[in-house]
Amino acid sequence: MTENRVNFYGRRKGRPLRKAMAEMLATDLPRWRMPRMVADLPDLFSHAPKDIWLEIGFGGGEHLAARAAAAPQDGFIGAEPFINGVASLLRHRAAGDCQNILIWDDDVRLILPSWPTASLAGVYILFPDPWPKKRHAPRRILTQPMLDELARLIRPGGLLRLASDHPVAKSWLLEETTRHPAFAWTARRPQDWRRPPPDWPGTRYMKKAEQEGRQPSWFDFCRVS
Ligand SMILES: C[S@@+](CC[C@H](N)C(=O)[O-])C[C@H]1O[C@@H](n2cnc3c(N)ncnc32)[C@H](O)[C@@H]1O
Repeated sequence: MTENRVNFYGRRKGRPLRKAMAEMLATDLPRWRMPRMVADLPDLFSHAPKDIWLEIGFGGGEHLAARAAAAPQDGFIGAEPFINGVASLLRHRAAGDCQNILIWDDDVRLILPSWPTASLAGVYILFPDPWPKKRHAPRRILTQPMLDELARLIRPGGLLRLASDHPVAKSWLLEETTRHPAFAWTARRPQDWRRPPPDWPGTRYMKKAEQEGRQPSWFDFCRVS
């Protein structure tokens, strides 16, 4: 992947932030922000994390905060260029038991290349922007170069969890990932993709999709060697 030339097509800003949120962003984000280049991931955390997990496009951070609170022994990294989402995660981080989260408030593709091989236990990409039109396909987050990078970073036996509510996105997530030799889909029967995984905390986007009558699916892939 090319480190300095990535086009990000999503939103970076939403409604103006309330004063308290803007202040939190100014004071807390610099403390918990991932550096752009790293030699070693465990060194970035104040405890020695057992496993390290990455969530790409964490939105409001509900899933990431819940996972981090449930696994204090682990380290979590969240990437999200949408600043209102970053502020929301900082609020979860301040309120909850999830001090084991580091945040990258920009395009995830900028930070991955410096990370050591096999440094992650797993990666979550939950309800990515669907970009359903064919001409927008190059904007989709899960491309073969991204899968190459994730295959390098996820250790053998590790998890790549994908979720979507959009029929076009479900197809491309499955097609792209099943054709990559480093990933094997673990589903054995329909309930494996129709039912949420154990301890599923939900996401903001998923809630909206369900309210609007769209059915989510979950696709778990194992990093095979
Ligand atoms: C449809 S939203 C889903 C958010 C959240 N996962 C949820 O389920 O509520 C997709 C998110 O992915 C983020 N995103 C898109 N491209 C990204 C990239 N290259 N790096 C990091 N995040 C990205 C967007 O900013 C957006 O917040």
